[in-house]
Amino acid sequence: MTDPGALALSLSGVSKAFGGLCAVDGVSLDVTPGERRAIIGPNGAGKTTLFSLISGEQPPTDGRITLFGRDVTRLPPHRRAALGMARTYQITNLFPRLTVLENCLLAVQALKPTKFHLHRALSRYPGLFERARSALEAVGLAGKDGETVRNLSHGEQRQLEIALALAGAPKLLLLDEPTAGLSPAESHLMTGLLKRLDPAITILVIEHDMDVAFELTKRVTVLHFGKVIADGLGDEVKANPLVQEIYLGRE
Ligand SMILES: Nc1ncnc2c1ncn2[C@@H]1O[C@H](COP(=O)(O)OP(=O)(O)O)[C@@H](O)[C@H]1O
Ligand SMILES: [Mg+2]
Repeated sequence: MTDPGALALSLSGVSKAFGGLCAVDGVSLDVTPGERRAIIGPNGAGKTTLFSLISGEQPPTDGRITLFGRDVTRLPPHRRAALGMARTYQITNLFPRLTVLENCLLAVQALKPTKFHLHRALSRYPGLFERARSALEAVGLAGKDGETVRNLSHGEQRQLEIALALAGAPKLLLLDEPTAGLSPAESHLMTGLLKRLDPAITILVIEHDMDVAFELTKRVTVLHFGKVIADGLGDEVKANPLVQEIYLGRE
């Protein structure tokens, strides 16, 4: 067993019930610093709920969650964010009337104790500005900083969501279906930029598309009806008969 203090994230027997439905059912999971892990599974498997438990948006019914060795099971989302966690959502979560840079600055300042005014000279916030620029750079949107968000393509909006998560310089990043709704070309671009992110960042990514999951990560955890039914390297998981039956199914 790995020392929990040496892990980026550790879940032990984590469950979440909604009435009679156990959406997440006794999940245990250890993620080492710098690891990239995909969480896959059919619709309704409990993937998004699992992320909400990790980020603190929902309290678990049972189990324990540690983040960088610290028990965060009862900590609210902002306290977990302050420990270096960021997440993106399955559904776009941007301010469509603001520019790309403004969205990014808001995300940066949200984690700062100092008060920030959007319409004050940016030169008064040199640190914030730099962080926002470097997050946009990392997702290939540096050239679009003045663009109004609603004029961006869907793919670019998803890239911006990654930038917003990066703006807080997270150590652990949770990405919920970053390629959802993207065209094959946009999906390819997204996969490329995710692979180029700073290797020091620990990344958990929910992926519906198995091929994308295996391109992004070596290690995959498969959820089904809230339970981990397989966990291992790509080829092992692909060859697992249970996975073939319930995840790949008949296509
Ligand atoms: N807030 C909620 N209240 C009740 N049921 C929920 C809630 N959130 C998710 N569920 C249910 O939990 C199960 C898992 O959902 P979800 O985590 O969104 O799955 P996935 O992301 O793998 O598609 C589904 O059956 C879903 O309907
Ligand atoms: Mg989901």
